[in-house]
Amino acid sequence: MMGRVSGTARRRILLVTGSSGLIGSEMCAHFAAEGYEVHGFDNNQRAVFFGPAGDTRWNQARLERDVPGFVHHELDLRDRAGVLALVSKLRPAAIVHTAAQPSHDRAAAIPFDDFGTNAVGTLNLLEAARRSCPESPFVHMSTNKVYGDRPNTIRLKELDSRWDYDDPEYAEGIPESFPIDQSKHSLFGASKVAADVMVQEYGRYFGMPTCCLRGGCLTGPSHSGVELHGFLSYLVKCNLEGREYRVYGYKGKQVRDNIHSRDVARFAHEFISRPRSGEVYNLGGGKQNSCSILEAFRITEGLTGRPQVHTYVEENRIGDHIVYYSDLRKMKAHYPNWDITVGLEDTIGQIADAWRGKISP
Ligand SMILES: NC(=O)c1ccc[n+]([C@@H]2O[C@H](COP(=O)([O-])OP(=O)(O)OC[C@H]3O[C@@H](n4cnc5c(N)ncnc54)[C@H](O)[C@@H]3O)[C@@H](O)[C@H]2O)c1
Repeated sequence: MMGRVSGTARRRILLVTGSSGLIGSEMCAHFAAEGYEVHGFDNNQRAVFFGPAGDTRWNQARLERDVPGFVHHELDLRDRAGVLALVSKLRPAAIVHTAAQPSHDRAAAIPFDDFGTNAVGTLNLLEAARRSCPESPFVHMSTNKVYGDRPNTIRLKELDSRWDYDDPEYAEGIPESFPIDQSKHSLFGASKVAADVMVQEYGRYFGMPTCCLRGGCLTGPSHSGVELHGFLSYLVKCNLEGREYRVYGYKGKQVRDNIHSRDVARFAHEFISRPRSGEVYNLGGGKQNSCSILEAFRITEGLTGRPQVHTYVEENRIGDHIVYYSDLRKMKAHYPNWDITVGLEDTIGQIADAWRGKISP
């Protein structure tokens, strides 16, 4: 633990964008406990993207109440002058970038907001870092949607409750070498590709210690899950409220790999402690934490004792993955101290507990 250092030495400041969101808030709590002075910025844009159900002010209030020394800045990532000024003032020792328009499906209705936040906003932050703290590790939350729908071209087999890869090359999941172009991404996937490649470029071209974490399903009790983003959080909320959950296509056997936000923060910490340059990692729960929608129903029902009310819509979401789980071997090879520590059932149980505290019966 380094904590605040005395004299003229710089304080160890962490800047987190999107600090009121699922991953941002977990980062704030994790790094504050490690002795960082944590500054977050967020403008509750999630409520603009998804309406009142996406509101993250409760999480901002939680951070301000519970995380010692946490400082909230009300700032829009698209405000270039504001971002340059904040990074120049703080000169953070590390940056974790989680602010985004995060929904694959929502992007088509708001293309300028989506690209402005995900692509141009990321460039604002990268350039601010290059000007003010180019030596500071920069962790960017990317997404598995950068692979477009190309994972759907892998041969599959149908099992009782899920699809699975039927190709030994992908027995451990999708590796970082998987191609990212010439497939359908959604506008969200395209704006995240732009950001992902730009983050790599600031590593490769300028030598900055950057990495992209291409997330599978990142989840946990602090998610403000809505139908268009945060499937597990939303599914559990529907279960507890007796609300209908709509399954879109693939017989409900589509597979996602789920990682608890705590394990995401633990990986960011590993990277910041021993950074590399221009790296890319597929970060998800891996095969061990994967489940289909049908399997998620069963686990949730087992934990809550409530039936999952659902309907089936024949048409799948455009470009939706049939099976996706991350090959975690590169992460573990580069950072052998890191592994998944929270299992799927535990994660779903924590999500259920969190919703019980928030929704009225
Ligand atoms: N949750 C997942 O399943 C998942 C999967 C893959 C990748 N990711 C990526 O991880 C990152 C974090 O995701 P999350 O689930 O925590 O999302 P989230 O929506 O919970 O958090 C994002 C936060 O960023 C804020 N924000 C959005 N636009 C902003 C702007 N213009 N200025 C300032 N703040 C802004 C929002 O208000 C929100 O609080 C995103 O980059 C997302 O694409 C998430």
